[in-house]
Amino acid sequence: MTIQHSGGTERVLIFDTTLRDGEQSPGATMSLSSKLEIAELLDLMGIDIIEAGFPIASQGDFKAVQEISQQVKRATVCGLARSSPSDIDRAGEALKMARRPRIHTFISTSALHMKYKLQMDPEDVIEAVDRSVRQARRYCDDVQWSPEDGSRTDHDFLCRAVETAIKAGARTINIPDTVGYSAPVESAAVIRMLRERVPDIDCVTLSTHCHNDLGLAVANSLAAVDAGARQVECTINGLGERAGNAALEEIVMAMRVRQDIMPFRTGVESSRIIQASRLVSQATGFPVQFNKAIVGKNAFAHEAGIHQDGMIKHAGTYEIMRPEEVGLHESSIVLGKHSGRAAVRKKLHELGYEIGNNRLNEVFRQFKFLADRKREVYDDDLIAIMQSSDSQNGSATLAVEYLRVVCGTESPQSAHIRLRLDGTCREARACGSGPVDAAFNAVSKIFSHEARLQNYQVHAVTEGMDAQATVSITLSEHGLIVNGQSSNTDTVLASVNAYVAALNSLVRRRMAAQSQELASL
Ligand code: KIV
Ligand code: ZN
Repeated sequence: MTIQHSGGTERVLIFDTTLRDGEQSPGATMSLSSKLEIAELLDLMGIDIIEAGFPIASQGDFKAVQEISQQVKRATVCGLARSSPSDIDRAGEALKMARRPRIHTFISTSALHMKYKLQMDPEDVIEAVDRSVRQARRYCDDVQWSPEDGSRTDHDFLCRAVETAIKAGARTINIPDTVGYSAPVESAAVIRMLRERVPDIDCVTLSTHCHNDLGLAVANSLAAVDAGARQVECTINGLGERAGNAALEEIVMAMRVRQDIMPFRTGVESSRIIQASRLVSQATGFPVQFNKAIVGKNAFAHEAGIHQDGMIKHAGTYEIMRPEEVGLHESSIVLGKHSGRAAVRKKLHELGYEIGNNRLNEVFRQFKFLADRKREVYDDDLIAIMQSSDSQNGSATLAVEYLRVVCGTESPQSAHIRLRLDGTCREARACGSGPVDAAFNAVSKIFSHEARLQNYQVHAVTEGMDAQATVSITLSEHGLIVNGQSSNTDTVLASVNAYVAALNSLVRRRMAAQSQELASL
C-alpha cells in the first residue's frame, strides 16, 4: 500500500473552538494567560478561525476575546453570540481590534428546543435569525450563523432558517450536531440536502460542528466534508461539552494520511500538534487519555514483539504516519544531574516549549530536584515538570513549603505540613485514612474550603521504579469545578501539590465570580 501524505486539492478551513466550546467542558476553565498562549500557538500552526470565547458569558470571556483579537496576526478571531441584541453588541465590542473579526450567532431550530428551551414559535425564530444576522453584519462582514440542534431539526424548517440567514448576510452556515446524535450518513445527507435545496447556498461556506456523545464526532465531520462542508469546527484533544467536540488533531491527520480517499488539505502545520495538545492539557489540567488517537502517550508505542520486529524491518508495517509528522520525537534520556540551564533550555526548545528566564529558573530548580532523585531524566519527565500547575505560578495564594507524612501498617497515618498562605507561613498536623488523606486534611486545616474531591488520578510519567508520578485532581465547590496537576517522584508530595494547585485555581475562580457579580449590580 502506498501512503500518500501531501498534495490534496480542495481546501478545508479549520475552525478551532478549544477556547470556547472546549472551555465549556466542566472544569476546563483556563486563565487569561493560558488562553493567550494557546491562541498564539493556534495562530502559528495555521488555524484559520479561532473561536476565542462567548463575550457576554462573563467579563473573563469578554477580556479573552478582546486580548486575543489584539494579539492574533493571521487567523480570523471569532466571538460567539446568541440572537439577542445585547449578545451581539458585546461580541462586536470585544472583536473591535481584531484584524479579521467574525461574529458567530446562533439560535435553536429543532422543534424540541424551540418548544421547551426557547419557548418561541417557529415564526419568531425565523425573525430572530434575520434580525440577529443583520445586526451582526453591522459590526463585521464575516458573520457565521448556526442552527443549534441542527441535526435534529426538521429539514424544511432548516432550509427556511438557512435561507433567511444567507439573505440577511451570513457568509458561513454551520450545522451543529449539538447533542452528538447524528450518524455519518446523516451528517453527509443534511449537507447534501442543503446544497440541493437552499438558494444561494454556493455563495456561503458550509461548516460542520459535531459533538462526541456517541464517539462519532470525527466520523461525522469527515462525512460532512465529503458531502461538501468546507469548514470543520473542532478542538484540541477533542475537549468540549460532555463527551467533547471533534478532535482537531484527528481531523487534520485523517485528511493528511488518507489523501487517497479524502483529497482535501488544511492550512495546519501538523508538526505543532503535540505541542498544542500538551499546552491545552497543561492549561486545563485535563490529562490526555493514553490511547487517544494521534496525541495519546501510546499512539506511537509498539509493545508486541511481532510489531516491534516489523517496525525494525520497515516502519510502514505498523505505522500509518511518522511520529515526527505530529511533532513527536523519540523519547530519549536527555539530561542528568550535571546538566546545566542551557541544556535544559535547549531540550525544552526541541520539545516545543519557549519560556522566559523567570520560568526557566523555576523549571531548572525542579529539574535539579528531580535529577537528584532520578538517575535519568527523560523528555516525558521534563514535559511533566512543564505541565505541573504548581510550576507556573509563583504568585499563587497557597504553596507547599514542607511536608512530612507517617504511614505504613500502623495507624494512625498522619501529616505535618507547612504552607505559604498569602505570603505568611502556616503549619498544621492532621490524621487520615492514608498519607494522602492525612495531608489533604492538614491543608484544609490551614485553608478552609467546602470543595469536594471529584477526581483523583495518578499515573507514572516514565517506566522504572524511580519514575515520577503525575497526579491530576478535580475539585468542585458550589458549582465551580477546578483542576490541578503535579508531578514528583514522591506520590504524596505530587498529590498535595496538585491539591494545592486546584485550590489556587479555586481562589482565582471565586474572585472572578465575585467581580462578575459586582459588575452586574
Ligand atoms: O454545539 C452547539 O450547538 C454549539 C453552537 C453554539 C454552535 O456549540
Ligand atoms: Zn458545540
